[in-house]
Amino acid sequence: RAVLVLNGPNLSRLGTREPDVYGAETLEDLAALCRKAGGELGLDVDFRQTDDEAELVSWLHEAADGAIPVVLNPAAFTHYSYAVRDAIAQRRAPLVEVHISNPAAREEFRHTSVVAAVATGTIAGFGLRSYELALRAIAETAS
Ligand code: DQA
Repeated sequence: RAVLVLNGPNLSRLGTREPDVYGAETLEDLAALCRKAGGELGLDVDFRQTDDEAELVSWLHEAADGAIPVVLNPAAFTHYSYAVRDAIAQRRAPLVEVHISNPAAREEFRHTSVVAAVATGTIAGFGLRSYELALRAIAETAS
């Protein structure tokens, strides 16, 4: 079963970006972790990252058309992108919003997610393990 693991802006900088918040592991490490965890759950993980809102929206259309489940870290788009929200609203399979940090415990502007209401659910605050937990949720949720 195919799953898209999609990552928004600045997540290519994992490992060097604010390591006190996001940890020392890189995007490559995260991709490897997702492929391994996915494999153990019988999921074929297609892992992607973009800084481009249009590209992320097009990937979400691909997921909607193919009824492909998604693990999505929208990064900063979480807080303001109605385009990403509207793309998610078209989904036909489960979509789990993930965050490495716990946005609710951070700056005020991070307390709002414009995508949470159209996601199946949200997992935040467990570091890279948030992705593993999200893949588990996908594996255990019928689409
Ligand atoms: C993030 C939290 C967002 O507020 C932030 O803009 C990110 C990463 C997280 O994974 O903790 O880029 O989505």
